[in-house]
Amino acid sequence: MPAGSSLASEPRLQATVALALLASKLNGDFAETGVYSGGTSILMAKVMIAHSRKVLWAADSFQGLPPEDVTAELAARKEYSMQKLPPVKSSKEGNAGEYSSSRQVFEQNLARSGLGNNARIKVLQGWFNETLPRAPIQKLAFLRLDGDIYVSTRDALEALYDKVVPGGYIYVDDYGSYTGCRDAVNQFLLQRHAAVQLHAIQEGNGFEAVWWQKVQMEVVYDHELDLNSPQVANYLQQMPAGSSLASRPRLQTTVALAILASKLNGDFAETGVYSGGTSILMAKVMLEHSGVYASRLLWAADSFQGLPPEDVTAELAARKEYNMQKLPPVKSSKEGNAGEYSSSRQVFEQNLARSGLGNNARIKVLQGWFNETLPGAPIQKLAFLRLDGDIYVSTRDALEALYDKVVPGGYIYVDDYGSYTGCRDAVNQFLLQRHAAVQLHAIQEGNGFEAVWWRKE
Ligand SMILES: C[S@@+](CC[C@H](N)C(=O)[O-])C[C@H]1O[C@@H](n2cnc3c(N)ncnc32)[C@H](O)[C@@H]1O
Repeated sequence: MPAGSSLASEPRLQATVALALLASKLNGDFAETGVYSGGTSILMAKVMIAHSRKVLWAADSFQGLPPEDVTAELAARKEYSMQKLPPVKSSKEGNAGEYSSSRQVFEQNLARSGLGNNARIKVLQGWFNETLPRAPIQKLAFLRLDGDIYVSTRDALEALYDKVVPGGYIYVDDYGSYTGCRDAVNQFLLQRHAAVQLHAIQEGNGFEAVWWQKVQMEVVYDHELDLNSPQVANYLQQMPAGSSLASRPRLQTTVALAILASKLNGDFAETGVYSGGTSILMAKVMLEHSGVYASRLLWAADSFQGLPPEDVTAELAARKEYNMQKLPPVKSSKEGNAGEYSSSRQVFEQNLARSGLGNNARIKVLQGWFNETLPGAPIQKLAFLRLDGDIYVSTRDALEALYDKVVPGGYIYVDDYGSYTGCRDAVNQFLLQRHAAVQLHAIQEGNGFEAVWWRKE
């Protein structure tokens, strides 16, 4: 980095490089809002060029700071002040025109670093609220904010935060030095209920910069459900032997969630009913716990021909983009084969009959491939959606057709998240694409887990 081309301290320069190295493993470009004379952009560009094929977006007015929006800043502070912080370095306010460095100096420093006219560095010259919303940025792996004041931090977050990929890195240079920057970050994250841990870069007795990693989904072991209650055990006894492939903890979870879901307005659905065991459990709970919704139906979907062929290309694309880094240990990472787990409609109906549920008008069978039967099914609302289609395409098709019908607070259970790679890919893609901030509860079985469940926000 050319001498004199950055205002940042050594620890903050080091943090910038370290985060750029981590971010170069992710999908998405780099961006810096507030490049000044170019020092930190040069560091980011050097890492990017050595480790990836990304682009660096370099935004600055090249006229210094804009005037502060003091009214908005004070309103943010009033509502979103954070109580507990390590000691900050300072609580400055910026002045319009401060930190002005010309575009020419920026370009000269790039040239001095061997980065002159580099096509992978895109300069966005102008005020952030004008340039950033219009910039053709698709995805960001690393967003480095260095606009000092409230308005500049807020405008950059509003324009760019949603472009940061799950797992992407955000660095804010001025959180511990400028009050307005702090107000903008607190407001933005707290308004969105983003539960993030800000890492402060310690410098002497305080800190200036913070960084965090964008997380939208996490998987935790569940201890919320009472799986061993006599009520749950009683339902399990009513299921015909050999009518389900699921383990005891997963059968117990199915019953416990069905009981909870009976308090909500909406039907039950199972996608992938096979020989009927888990549908029978859901139906039994439904019939005995009508609650507020006495006409509740159970929708039972299956091809009765086993699994369809996998959409391997779509699955691999989903995995590449939406892989989750941190999980408790999964049981297995299987792929399914077309035709596997085939059980006939007749076996399904026989098992229903053996359970006293033959020809029950509140059980609606949707026979056929999910992508054909589910989108047109006359389902209004779901309180409980149980997914058991094993593979990517079957999980994706069921989520796409039915997730929006799940009522707020409704329960979603996925049998195969911890056993089939494709199922995991479909769930990760679906939730992360929608920026759904959910906590998946994993059902522990020995040293790992297969099923997960969550409640819709
Ligand atoms: C593992 S089994 C379900 C097990 C069952 N829920 C139990 O606990 O015993 C998977 C089922 O999903 C069905 N299936 C998977 N993908 C499907 C699709 N795309 N369309 C229709 N049925 C599908 C298969 O026919 C099979 O019966």
